Amino acid sequence: MTEIRDLLLSRIRDVADYPQPGVMFKDITPLLADPAAFTALTDALAGIAGQSGATKVIGLEARGFILGAPVAVRAGLGFVPVRKAGKLPGATLSQAYELEYGSAEIEVHAEDLGGEDRVLIVDDVLATGGTAEASIQLVRRAGAEVAGLAVLMELGFLGGRARLEPALAGAPLEAL
Ligand code: PRP
Repeated sequence: MTEIRDLLLSRIRDVADYPQPGVMFKDITPLLADPAAFTALTDALAGIAGQSGATKVIGLEARGFILGAPVAVRAGLGFVPVRKAGKLPGATLSQAYELEYGSAEIEVHAEDLGGEDRVLIVDDVLATGGTAEASIQLVRRAGAEVAGLAVLMELGFLGGRARLEPALAGAPLEAL
């Protein structure tokens, strides 16, 4: 685990003052551009998907799509995109959530999840946990079960893990 952690960390670039002053942005594009690191990440997340007993993988727009789609293929599971509001053409379930300033809304196609599904939610970063919490609510409202949440990195100082505890209700949160 330490080996992959070191590999992944070595391919994440810190960008100071982006997208606004005082924020240290975690840029994953060097990791994506390195086939060994991207493959190691995909394999690790696919392993988590397999262990979780998931039937589907959800990716959270946009970077969660880049990670979640290959994980679904590698694990032999279906992929379901959770998109920012207004991007999906069919009947959707929507979930609003609070941001530091203002609010946001995410959506999923209602027909993509059902009572028979166990869902692993995949994203690049867990920060405040607002996006992940809203996605968990979407999964439950669709009648599906949450198999877990798997992220590349967790920004521990923002307290996302503690915030998500009630929503996860015992489902695992894995941060590589
Ligand atoms: C980022 C990140 C997570 C979310 C984490 O996405 O990729 O989805 O924020 O933040 P939170 O835990 O505080 O909710 P962003 O909304 O910037 O979208 P992007 O992937 O399209 O850049």
